[in-house]
Amino acid sequence: MTTMQANGLERALEAHYYTDPEMFAREREKIFHRTWQFAGHISQIEQAGDYFAFEICGQNLFCIRSADGSVRTFFNVCMHRAHELVQGTGSTKLIVCPYHAWTYELDGKLRRAPNQSKVDGFETAEICLTDVKTEVFCGFIFVNLDPDAAPMGEWFPDVEEQLRAYVPNIDQLKTVKINEVAERCNWKVAVENYSECYHCALCHPTFVKGVVDPKSYNVMPQGHCLRHTTVAANLDRLTYPIDADANEHATDYSSWFLWPMFSFQVYPGNVLNTYWWRPQSAGETNMYRGWHTQDGVPSDAIEALAQQDLDTTVAEDIKLVESVQRGLGSLGYKPGPLVIDRDFGVNSEHSIRALKQWTLEALEG
Ligand code: FES
Ligand SMILES: [Fe+2]
Repeated sequence: MTTMQANGLERALEAHYYTDPEMFAREREKIFHRTWQFAGHISQIEQAGDYFAFEICGQNLFCIRSADGSVRTFFNVCMHRAHELVQGTGSTKLIVCPYHAWTYELDGKLRRAPNQSKVDGFETAEICLTDVKTEVFCGFIFVNLDPDAAPMGEWFPDVEEQLRAYVPNIDQLKTVKINEVAERCNWKVAVENYSECYHCALCHPTFVKGVVDPKSYNVMPQGHCLRHTTVAANLDRLTYPIDADANEHATDYSSWFLWPMFSFQVYPGNVLNTYWWRPQSAGETNMYRGWHTQDGVPSDAIEALAQQDLDTTVAEDIKLVESVQRGLGSLGYKPGPLVIDRDFGVNSEHSIRALKQWTLEALEG
């Protein structure tokens, strides 16, 4: 099926890509389980033995700090008869399965199993938890269920270097707040909405009147990253104090969306915040907003910013994405042409074309 028409206009994806449970199952295999997904922040597991469990697209996993200080991720399943190993967050010297007490080291190797000496040929050395490819990217832990996945530096060229320049204290940040919002829409509807600003003038009044200059807004692909940039204007309207001369990017706004569903955003004052999504079904997605401060020190300014974000951008966008999802179920809908401005810019949907292309390439791969 082609979504390109004879007149050469690029069109939005067909509706079934957003609504069909079979398509969602295919995406799970071809996209979610083969791309870099955000797990958590290293400040959640500072000491050896600290762990947190989480779920990505139907797979239960946990990250744990090893005795040597490295961050490891394992499938949250015992290699005996498949009981889950850990729940929530905690700290432990050994990983002990709650079912028959098989006991694993922090690096996943089986240490002992009760009554193992009575079993001929039982080799503890041959048994180890199944590990998951893990990268710590500026303190943020990402995992990829594909053991052959290319490193994040190849997927997202130059992002780490750019991010470090925009957030000079990134290695000292700790997560202080995570807001979670359930959205009744496909994950691609949410991500596409995040990735274009053609709707901003109409739907985000605070954005247009705020601290960025909408005319300067642009989104450009950079590997499998969509880099958003804009020039700050009206810094006097900022609701929190900044030192505009602190460094080269102290007054800049930028974001790096790492396909398929994570984004680093930097606000003036080198304030880092994060966005990520976890798909639940074809029509349900959980969205998360993370806020981080130097050494995790509580900040009234960040609290206020997080609340303002929930009350404005998030509240405005959720209405849009849920309406789109209902519309995608309409028998009257045929995918319309994307508005791809030959000069790019704030009112162009070339970013939607990039997302469509990456999705189709992955589904066909
Ligand atoms: S399932 Fe874990 S010890 Fe039996
Ligand atoms: Fe929006």
